[in-house]
Amino acid sequence: MLAALAWQVELGAVDAIGEAPVDRFEVKPEPKAAPAAAAKPAPHAPVVVPEVDVVAEARAMSAAAGSLEALAAAQEAFPHCELKRGARNFVFADGRPEARVMVIGEGPGAEEDAQGKPFVGRSGQLLDRMFAAIGLARDAEDAAAALYITNVVPWRPPQNRDPEPEELAMMRPFVERHIELAAPELIVLMGNPACGSLLGKRGITRLRGNWHEFAGVPVMPMFHPSFLLRRAEMKRHAWADLLTVKARLETP
Ligand code: URA
Repeated sequence: MLAALAWQVELGAVDAIGEAPVDRFEVKPEPKAAPAAAAKPAPHAPVVVPEVDVVAEARAMSAAAGSLEALAAAQEAFPHCELKRGARNFVFADGRPEARVMVIGEGPGAEEDAQGKPFVGRSGQLLDRMFAAIGLARDAEDAAAALYITNVVPWRPPQNRDPEPEELAMMRPFVERHIELAAPELIVLMGNPACGSLLGKRGITRLRGNWHEFAGVPVMPMFHPSFLLRRAEMKRHAWADLLTVKARLETP
């Protein structure tokens, strides 16, 4: 029983969502309704499937948002991302939008999905400690010492898989507008999916430690904290990258 439970947790089934257990062997399938005669299409009528350009729709919805609140509402209402159907909560951002540094991660995990806030699980705690080491915190009173944190997808991917390229593509207009509205001085991208979405490049080992650019804003890619939790020997690279960010913030 314990092994079966551990297996389900491993698969990502971390929450019981019903009050009472359901014996699926006893559940009878619902009888299929007979198709209504009136609903039958005419024998040669063409089936018209409306084509939706989901990226264009995301672009239009995000461009129409004139504030971060409007952007959050537009993104949450966006109906075409499959991730939305499996998530408990929409996760938009945390920290201070006026911060000089915007941190962009991959997507919510189980804890973020439960709380509706980015980076609040184990990797988020490490992220907080990393930035605290260079004097930055999401809840800092002084905007100059604050962080603003978001992700490239706002809904938790099932079993914490990487977001698919199509999911990244349809969410990218929202992230672009998010950056435009928050107008940070620097962006830190955490891990490969964030770099793939915004820089169109992967290979974090090569990308990290060097400055890149997105829409005129300097971008520092870094190892994702969840990778650092598994590979503690890589933390020295993250420390070097944090010092590079700090030096740039201190340069007039
Ligand atoms: N990992 C991320 O990339 N983002 C989160 O919000 C949490 C974990």
